[in-house]
Amino acid sequence: MEWLLSEKVERNDVVIALGGGVIGDLVGFAASILRRGVRFVQVPTSLLAQVDSSVGGKTGINAPHGKNLIGAFHQPSLVLADIDVLSTLKKRDFLAGYGEVVKYGLLGDAAFFEWLEEHGSKLAAGDEAARLKAVRRSVEMKAEIVVRDETEQGDRALLNLGHTFCHALEAATGYSGRLLHGEGVAVGCALAFELSSRLGLCPQEDPSRVRAHLKDMNMMVDLGDIEGDLPDAHGLLSLMGQDKKVIDGKLRFILARGIGDAFVTADVEPAQVLDVLESALSARA
Ligand SMILES: NC(=O)c1ccc[n+]([C@@H]2O[C@H](COP(=O)([O-])OP(=O)(O)OC[C@H]3O[C@@H](n4cnc5c(N)ncnc54)[C@H](O)[C@@H]3O)[C@@H](O)[C@H]2O)c1
Ligand SMILES: [Zn+2]
Repeated sequence: MEWLLSEKVERNDVVIALGGGVIGDLVGFAASILRRGVRFVQVPTSLLAQVDSSVGGKTGINAPHGKNLIGAFHQPSLVLADIDVLSTLKKRDFLAGYGEVVKYGLLGDAAFFEWLEEHGSKLAAGDEAARLKAVRRSVEMKAEIVVRDETEQGDRALLNLGHTFCHALEAATGYSGRLLHGEGVAVGCALAFELSSRLGLCPQEDPSRVRAHLKDMNMMVDLGDIEGDLPDAHGLLSLMGQDKKVIDGKLRFILARGIGDAFVTADVEPAQVLDVLESALSARA
C-alpha cells in the first residue's frame, strides 16, 4: 500500500495484477482499499488464477485466525488470460490448478467432467486446444454463478465444493508447501463425494469415479498423499469450525446428488463428517 502511494497512484489509475492467485488476491485487495478503491486488471498467469481466482472479484489476504479473513469484493475491470504462459508452470502448480477445473465439472457440468476424464492427460501434457477449452468452460461456469450471486448469499457457495475439507487441511498443514490450495480442493472434492455417498445422496460409484480421475492425473487424492502428520478427525473437524462458511455454528457443506449436481446444505451432522474423516485417516496408516 505504501509503495502504491509513493508511486502516487491516483483514483483514476489502473493497478495491474500480473501473477498467480496469491498476487491476484493481494493486488485486488490493495486496489480495493487504495484511496477507497481504484480500478484493477487481472492478468492471471497460473492455471488456478486463470480458471478461478481472477474471476468474480473476491480479493483478500490470510490472517493468523484463518484463511482469507481480511478481504473485499472488488471486481476487476478486465481479466486477460493467455494460456501460453501456462507452459512455464511447474507440473505440481499446473496440476493444483487442475483441481479447480475438475471442481467445475463435479459441481455443475457432468458432460465437462466426462470430457476431462477423456482429455485431462493431454491437457496436462500441453495440448493447447484442450487447455483453451478447459479454461474457457471453467471461466464461463464461474462467471455464470457469480452473476447470479455476486456476494455469496446463496448459489455462489457451490464454488466451494471440496473447500470446507480443503480449508481444514490447509490450516492443518500450516498453509505450507505440504499442500497447495488446488491439491486441497482435489482431496476435498473426493471427501465431499464420499460424504454425499455415505449420506445416500449420490450413487455409490461416484466417489470412486472422482478418485479414479484424480489418480489418472497423478494428483493428490487421499489424506495419505499429504506428507507428514495430520490432526485426528476431531482436530480436523474443529479446524472446519473456523471456516468462514459457518453460519450460526452449523457446518455448511456443498454436497452432491451426483457428478455435476452439487447443492448447498446446512443439514450435516458433525458425527457424519467425523465418520468420513476417521475412515480417510485410517486408510492413511
Ligand atoms: N479469489 C478467489 O476467488 C480465489 C479462488 C481460488 C483460489 N484463490 C487463492 O489463490 C491462491 C492460489 O493461487 P495459485 O495456485 O495461482 O498460487 P500462486 O499464486 O502461489 O502461484 C503458484 C506458483 O506458480 C508461480 N507462477 C505463477 N505463474 C507462473 C507462470 N506462468 N510460470 C511459472 N510459474 C508461475 C508462482 O510464482 C507460484 O510459485 C490461494 O491463495 C487461494 O486461496 C482465490
Ligand atoms: Zn479454491
